[in-house]
Amino acid sequence: MIKINENYLKLKASYLFSEIATRVAAYQKAHPEKEIIKLGIGDVTRPLPSACIEAFHQAVDEMSDVETFRGYGPEKGYDFLRQKIAAVDFQAAGADVEADEVFVSDGSKCDCGNIQEIFATDVTVAIPDPVYPVYLDTNVMAGRTGAFADGRYRGIVYLDSSRANSFIPDLPTEPVDLIYLCFPNNPTGATITMDQLQGWVDYARENRALILYDAAYEAYIRAPGLPKSIYEVKGAREVAVEMRSFSKTAGFTGIRCGYTVVPKDCRGYDGSGKEHSIHDFWLRRHATKFNSVSYPVQRAAEAVYTVNGSRQVRDLTDYYLRNAALIREELTALGYECIGGDNSPYIWVDGRMDSWAFFDMLLEKAGVVCTPGAGFGRCGEGFIRISAFNHHERVQKALEKIKAALSG
Ligand SMILES: Cc1ncc(COP(=O)(O)O)c(C=O)c1O
Repeated sequence: MIKINENYLKLKASYLFSEIATRVAAYQKAHPEKEIIKLGIGDVTRPLPSACIEAFHQAVDEMSDVETFRGYGPEKGYDFLRQKIAAVDFQAAGADVEADEVFVSDGSKCDCGNIQEIFATDVTVAIPDPVYPVYLDTNVMAGRTGAFADGRYRGIVYLDSSRANSFIPDLPTEPVDLIYLCFPNNPTGATITMDQLQGWVDYARENRALILYDAAYEAYIRAPGLPKSIYEVKGAREVAVEMRSFSKTAGFTGIRCGYTVVPKDCRGYDGSGKEHSIHDFWLRRHATKFNSVSYPVQRAAEAVYTVNGSRQVRDLTDYYLRNAALIREELTALGYECIGGDNSPYIWVDGRMDSWAFFDMLLEKAGVVCTPGAGFGRCGEGFIRISAFNHHERVQKALEKIKAALSG
């Protein structure tokens, strides 16, 4: 008899986006003449930078020639890409990361979902609330939690992000082993300061814990002084793994490329307290279960680091930040408190009412779709997330509709 992994039975049905889809479909059916503008999903709408497209085409052509054809790539990714990542994304910012510590992957979702499997099942996991759901669900699947009750899984230490702590979680009051942090944050758009991040790194060092730092949105940071990488903070190399993605920077959501940095100084411990290299564990896992990202995609990613590519990526992120600034400005003018949207493509809006009630009101009165904050965790109740990932004209139109609906 084939038995199933019963941990999957503990998972909440992926209620959030299916419930949004159901409500939007019902509205559309009832009002077929009404236009709907979606500012809910965090997917990009602009095409790939032309520098990436040119490199992509050229690499595809190379695959058609027997002299330049390439088969399986190196397991950690091609050197040409890893060297640029280490030099530009880290060393130029004063962060000590070597090319050999970079693992190229087909996106950050897989890395943040998979990396937990190199740690013991009985580690104590700290996860922010509200949260990008992948961190939580993959730990549920792995059996690190009890049942789901009152909006939370037993066994997880939740790191509340609320107005009380300006949406930056406080250090845990109990010992934890594995800590997920994401800045700029999805869904709140909050950013962390160097001092605050130093506090987390110091905590991890004191407790021999490990931080999984998701920096998928670092390219949206504009304020000087905010850390883009956790390795800008002293001591982080020993206690932090960082994940990044080309999805929201260069529009790679459809072609897939990201990377994870696992410094050689990071240590984990076996049952007898003996030290092991987390880098070596991740290398073993990566080499066993992953067979590298396609050559043309890695060449397209490399183009992000050319003069033209970096300018185009900056233009792309500026474009979405312009949307974010407008959303923030208009909602603030309507009297709503907003978090994020300045160094982040997400705006976390205090709706001063039940999240789903606010969602319904925006849909019914303005034909605009947002994401109810309660879907990201208990602390998200009362908030909605508005995404800046859309065409500027659509965002302007959505805001006109919201203004007309809410001020009328
Ligand atoms: C916080 C966060 N991490 C990771 C990802 C996944 O990125 P990728 O497209 O590289 O899988 C997302 C995507 O929405 C995200 O919001």
